[in-house]
Amino acid sequence: MCGIVGYVGPREAQPLILEGLRRLEYRGYDSAGIATIHEGSLDVRKAAGKIVELEGRLEESPLVGSHGIGHTRWATHGAPTTINAHPHTDGSDRVALVHNGIIENHDVLRIKLEELGHEFRSETDTEVLCHIIEELFDGNLEDAVAEALSHVEGAYGIAVIHADEPGKIVVARMGSPLLIGIGENGEREMFAASDVAAVVRHTRQVIYLNDGEMAVLTADGHSLLDISESGNGEAPRRVSREVSRVDWDLGQIERGGYEHFMLKEIFEQPDTIRDAMRGRLLEEEGTAKLGGLLPLEDVLENVERIVITACGTSWHAAIVGEYMIEELARIPVEVEYASEFRYRRPIVRDGTLVIAISQSGETADTLAAMREARSRGAPIMGIVNVVGSSIARETDGGVYIHSGPEIGVASTKAFTGQLTVLALFALYLARRRGMSLLEGREFVAAMRQLPELVRLSLDESSAIESIAREYADNANFLYLGRGFNFPVALEGALKLKEISYIHAEGYPAAEMKHGPIALIDQNMPVVFIAPSDSVYHKVTSNIEEVKARGGKVIA
Ligand code: M6R
Repeated sequence: MCGIVGYVGPREAQPLILEGLRRLEYRGYDSAGIATIHEGSLDVRKAAGKIVELEGRLEESPLVGSHGIGHTRWATHGAPTTINAHPHTDGSDRVALVHNGIIENHDVLRIKLEELGHEFRSETDTEVLCHIIEELFDGNLEDAVAEALSHVEGAYGIAVIHADEPGKIVVARMGSPLLIGIGENGEREMFAASDVAAVVRHTRQVIYLNDGEMAVLTADGHSLLDISESGNGEAPRRVSREVSRVDWDLGQIERGGYEHFMLKEIFEQPDTIRDAMRGRLLEEEGTAKLGGLLPLEDVLENVERIVITACGTSWHAAIVGEYMIEELARIPVEVEYASEFRYRRPIVRDGTLVIAISQSGETADTLAAMREARSRGAPIMGIVNVVGSSIARETDGGVYIHSGPEIGVASTKAFTGQLTVLALFALYLARRRGMSLLEGREFVAAMRQLPELVRLSLDESSAIESIAREYADNANFLYLGRGFNFPVALEGALKLKEISYIHAEGYPAAEMKHGPIALIDQNMPVVFIAPSDSVYHKVTSNIEEVKARGGKVIA
């Protein structure tokens, strides 16, 4: 996943941009680069590999200038080489540009540009944009960028500088997150980034761009423009947007003594689950208070069907939500991968509520699925972590999970935060649909115990670590669970694949006998999720089946 950082102001840009890029390292990348402008000329340093490679180059030959852009690249078009790393430049080395996303029509554009005599250096889709801007530049960078973008199909978050326009950065967004940070404490400086973690050390005043918007940054300020109609010959329209205040503290985006962010975030869960419930449980009334749902009150009163759409871990949380809402509130729920929902012709009738679940609030498929649902007339609710993110802004109402920044790419505390909020939501609906006061109070009391139960589980971490060591050399794992723990099994298998590069599959435990059982022998560890719930005895029978075939059971 790529990252963008930009700076314009009185300070040297290189160290600020480098620091911002380091804050984005957690997102994964395979090359990095920075460009600055100094005394009318553009200078670029890039390196394949980790940021330390780039630092090596910068030590040999530092960049000067108080105005620049930087990037961490995750290769999509073209190998992860230094040439393909961003920033990219035009033929005259006056324009430098960094880009997140994919320019889908890059090959057509490239052919046209080559016919006009442009020579390309990289294999990337991004480089075409530099050449189009070069072609269109007539002394005003924002005009050239707005027009260039009207020729582009696909997704982008970009930041661009031009040697003839010192002290200016132009940024724009379509389907890929971008924000600007406004200098604090009287500093006349501006930042740009794809993720707030890159700038939060220097400012908490940010403006999130919407799709189809462009911003022009100088040390003295910014202007925000709607360029969505540029392709139809319309001039950019000025937009005013409230400044959002980021309430994270620096400690939340630092490792705090843990070996890595994922571990830190796993251990934060007793607190993050408590934070997700804070002020929301009503003991006396035996229900949940969810202020963000007020705008949807009428919808929720009359809802006949719920469709939840999400990706990855958030999709797994959605299935747990489906089970809880159907069991407690008796409202039919369907769960759809956002990437499928957006390209189908989904049925959305009156009485359908669509819920989008997302940690980041910026996942392109989830955003597009939401928009598809809205275009079909559905009211949209969000369950989101990142306050002020695109998904949060585009919903009609919703509930934040308040897990704080999830820096580890593998979702952990956000998953349990999503489950907590889904449980609150299921309770809220159920109490309106026949759950008794007594049952409601019992549910609230049980939820109050969650943080402590999670803490007790985490106390087992050294025992869990020794089991992990024992099985670390196995190449395949099965994760099995029933009921609420079927989606938890899916999530366990996803985590193992993502983090350990070990193949793993999740199944409902009873499905094992319909095929996967053929795989079970002493080389196939099977992880069972088997708490003492209503299906416990069923799961223990499945455990026996595995043992009978010599399989190793981790329960
Ligand atoms: O930010 P989102 O929840 O929308 O992200 C969706 C998935 O990309 C995400 O949950 C992914 O599967 C996890 N990072 C896996 O750990």
